[in-house]
Amino acid sequence: MLELGTGAGYNAILGALNGAAYVTCTDVSQVAVNNAQENIDNHQLGNRVTVIRSDVFDSLPSECKYKFDLIFWNFPFVHINKPASELTDLERCVYDPEHEGIDKCLRDIKQFLVPDRGRAFFAFSTTLASMEQFSDVAAKNNWKLQLVNEYETTVGDDIGFEEAGAGAQLGIYEIIELKRN
Ligand SMILES: C[S@@+](CC[C@H](N)C(=O)[O-])C[C@H]1O[C@@H](n2cnc3c(N)ncnc32)[C@H](O)[C@@H]1O
Repeated sequence: MLELGTGAGYNAILGALNGAAYVTCTDVSQVAVNNAQENIDNHQLGNRVTVIRSDVFDSLPSECKYKFDLIFWNFPFVHINKPASELTDLERCVYDPEHEGIDKCLRDIKQFLVPDRGRAFFAFSTTLASMEQFSDVAAKNNWKLQLVNEYETTVGDDIGFEEAGAGAQLGIYEIIELKRN
């Protein structure tokens, strides 16, 4: 399993505790990487869970290509008019200027999935961001989105958006490759 943008490492650790033999997780933020490493160590999972600082796939070693059965990213889906280099660590959790990060991810992801059986899932909120924009970025990279599961948040997040309160919609979407005729 590969978790992109692992933050504190929660989903990566949950994966390792629930059947994933080996987990790699990444984050663009060094603070997040340090936090995830502490949690991996606290769960004594250092032999099965590896965290790497990386902007999407940029710093993953080449042996990671064609390797993952499962890739997951609870990605920052909100556009902001500010360069990524000027965002704080916390802002990078929510904002992805021009949807650059998800665009890069969907452009390169196929190389990191086990051919034919690797699957990739993304968490996305239609309350916070535009489904049309997410679908457009996916289509541009030859993917369509399939809703797998839908939740309503029960607790609000204090991230400067009214919409992020309790009751926000959160969906898990699988990407399916578009076949060209
Ligand atoms: C919505 S948070 C998810 C955090 C955690 N995985 C969770 O589900 O609670 C998005 C995460 O993606 C990271 N991130 C943002 N842009 C990234 C990029 N280009 N490459 C890797 N990680 C990125 C952020 O630092 C943040 O930790």
